[in-house]
Amino acid sequence: MVLRDKSVVLGVTGSIAAYKAADLASKLTQAGAAVDVVMTRAATEFIAPLTFRSITHRPVSSSMFNAPTEYEIEHIALAERADVIAIAPATADIIARLAAGIADDLLCCTVLATRAPVILAPAMNVNMWENPITQENLERLRARGFRVVEPGYGAMACGATGAGRLADTERILGTIQQVLGSGGDLAGKCVVVTAGGTQEPIDPVRHIGNRSSGKMGYALAEAARDRGAEVTLISAPTSLAEPVGVETVHVQTALEMRQAVLDAVSTADVLIMAAAVADYRPANAGKTKIKKESAADMTLELVRTPDILSEVKGGLVKVGFAAESEDLVKNAVAKLKEKGLDLIVANDITAADSGFDVDTNRVVLIDGKGNQEELPLLPKPGVAHRILDRVADILAAKKM
Ligand SMILES: Cc1cc2nc3c(=O)[nH]c(=O)nc-3n(C[C@H](O)[C@H](O)[C@H](O)COP(=O)(O)O)c2cc1C
Repeated sequence: MVLRDKSVVLGVTGSIAAYKAADLASKLTQAGAAVDVVMTRAATEFIAPLTFRSITHRPVSSSMFNAPTEYEIEHIALAERADVIAIAPATADIIARLAAGIADDLLCCTVLATRAPVILAPAMNVNMWENPITQENLERLRARGFRVVEPGYGAMACGATGAGRLADTERILGTIQQVLGSGGDLAGKCVVVTAGGTQEPIDPVRHIGNRSSGKMGYALAEAARDRGAEVTLISAPTSLAEPVGVETVHVQTALEMRQAVLDAVSTADVLIMAAAVADYRPANAGKTKIKKESAADMTLELVRTPDILSEVKGGLVKVGFAAESEDLVKNAVAKLKEKGLDLIVANDITAADSGFDVDTNRVVLIDGKGNQEELPLLPKPGVAHRILDRVADILAAKKM
């Protein structure tokens, strides 16, 4: 949502990874941003401007002296229009030219003339990357407020293996979203989100788990980040990638989650418990694998896990989830009161398109005053923003 109607200048430079910028341009455009691609002359050797023009439906610029007529003085117009400039891939050459303040092409001039935040996603051979000259140039740019999306490690087109691969599109996209959202309505707020389903060991190879995918909690963490919050995500095991710009703490069991939450909330303004935390755990987890015995049945003794939300004290805003298969609202209201919550998100988990392990959710929001709001079926990021709208209102009402 943070990308909608934003002006993004996407700089593309002469790296073998330039083709990956097409995917980034596509995702930015799909998210509603107006993407103006500025290519260096070298970049046009690797990928045609036509590719970007077709993806963004906007003119693509590569020369200061042969600019499309839309802009009067193009580098100034782009520099002023931009909400953010992202250069992906960024060559060693552009990094050096920017660090030195050189203005010998349209991209350098645009960066020099802008007041918008600038993000660099470097891509180059491992030796070029590790060269102290490149590192010093980057350090200089970081000190000037440039944001650097660290490259990944792996096999390169040149045959080498090491650091210098362009970061994944999702990481670059996440950084752009974080930078754009930094002045949002949760700026300055510290938000703790839990996600995923805890696993309670039976023995070293087996556990009791649940069907939570973590998608709702991760969507909440990313949405809070995109509204300017400082976010800690406490994650039970999931297959999801760590969100960019979010401090992620990995836990496995309910007891570990309890400790991580109690550690994190001391400085938090908001706690959102989206994780599916086991209510019971095996009383005596085997230290060695339990062998199949001759008896047909076996009995596991279970003990209660602590109720984390009830243990969290203090004036922070507390949001819980109620995953229910019957009496949705009644059960959710009871949970809200019992745990002293400010808001509860009631989830009907019997529907195929809502609840566990799907990309959409259908929820009812119930606040401490008993107000109910039934949301339509929405993608989980959309649900996350609707929940955060309510959190922002509660924070304002509490004058926090
Ligand atoms: C096949 C090929 C691949 C290249 N890949 C990279 C690269 O990944 N990163 C880099 O910094 N330079 C790379 N270069 C070198 C740059 O293209 C060169 O430094 C150029 O001057 C960069 O210009 P620009 O920064 O204006 O785009 C490559 C060159 C060639 C011929």
